[in-house]
Amino acid sequence: MIAVKSLIKRFGRLGSKNAVDNISFTIPEGKLFTLLGQSGCGKTTTLRMIAGIEEPTSGEIQLGDQLVYSSAAGVKVPVNKRPIGMVFQSYAIWPHMNVFDNVAFPLTVTKPRPSAREIKERTEKILEIVGLDSLANRSATALSGGQQQRVALARALVREPKVLLLDEPLSNLDAKLREQMREEIRTIQQKIGITTVFVTHDQSEALAISDLILLMHEGHIVEFGDPQHLYDRPQTPYGAQFIGVSNRFEGSASGSGEVEFMQVKIPRAGNGTFRAGDPVVIFIRPESIALTRSPRDSHPWAGQICQRIFQGDAWDYTIRIKDQEVRVRSYDKAEQFMIGDTAYLRPNYDEMIVLPHNMADATLVSKPVRI
Ligand SMILES: Nc1ncnc2c1ncn2[C@@H]1O[C@H](COP(=O)(O)OP(=O)(O)OP(=O)(O)O)[C@@H](O)[C@H]1O
Ligand SMILES: [Mg+2]
Repeated sequence: MIAVKSLIKRFGRLGSKNAVDNISFTIPEGKLFTLLGQSGCGKTTTLRMIAGIEEPTSGEIQLGDQLVYSSAAGVKVPVNKRPIGMVFQSYAIWPHMNVFDNVAFPLTVTKPRPSAREIKERTEKILEIVGLDSLANRSATALSGGQQQRVALARALVREPKVLLLDEPLSNLDAKLREQMREEIRTIQQKIGITTVFVTHDQSEALAISDLILLMHEGHIVEFGDPQHLYDRPQTPYGAQFIGVSNRFEGSASGSGEVEFMQVKIPRAGNGTFRAGDPVVIFIRPESIALTRSPRDSHPWAGQICQRIFQGDAWDYTIRIKDQEVRVRSYDKAEQFMIGDTAYLRPNYDEMIVLPHNMADATLVSKPVRI
């Protein structure tokens, strides 16, 4: 379990902007939790405060049953006394050591030092978990990027920490290996059942491997929840646009549970309450729109195909409707549209995301504070 309460980090002078601005969250035992957000939003700073490398300005951090930081109670547990293992973006494998020695190293500096036999057993066990047992004697310089990443992971886990902290561990790998390694990290994490904080700016990586995602923006929490909830029911326009691909429309709520946009009225799903005339912003995922060649009553829009991109399992179309472009993903490969074709569009009403138009900072989960 990790519990973070009212955590604040300000680097500059009093009154300057907080890099991490009053965030609170709890991660249950054994979960893989992702800190997601664009560059500079405060992910690494948050992770470093959990690790004890960066001292918070104020707040509280608890790892399992141990309070490791509290500004109010004056508690500051140093990094080497926290039950954590870490992997950074540059994973710093020691080139003069072989794989076994790289992974065993943290145990050799543990006090009291375990016996040689115990070091060997624990190192071999973790090498097997990460799939490096056959490479134990290989020189660390003779490893592929993926293998080096595994060494870094094994080294972080060999002391059997309670919490694993990973800061963009896949960013040095090429796209295919990234995908493979993220699955492996997930499998290893579930096998050991270790509570893990994973930092990334890649929303698809976050959706793929997380139990829980926290989306940050300018030091605040914008969204918090499980991947499908964040994708299907984001609470903020920022979250709807950051996670996955969305078509964005502006419109207004009309009475009797409808929204009006692009010259049509459509029944509104979701449970937000709006008054007639309230400005709203509507997000529709490309795969939530059906395309057909001929009109039916329930097809509110007609448009022209202006771009089509083959994705292997689907076609991605860009369709121009008056002055707006709409993206549609079609898994129906038998019914193909060519550039210039007319297509009729019908959104899946249940999958539309309707949010108040002027959703400012006030609606963010964590509120900015001045200190
Ligand atoms: N040591 C420092 N001194 C001053 N400002 C810092 C320091 N470290 C980070 N910052 C600032 O704090 C903010 C958050 O930085 P942080 O490194 O946590 O972002 P991030 O989300 O990890 O970004 P990235 O995806 O680029 O790694 C940024 O505005 C950054 O410039
Ligand atoms: Mg970072």
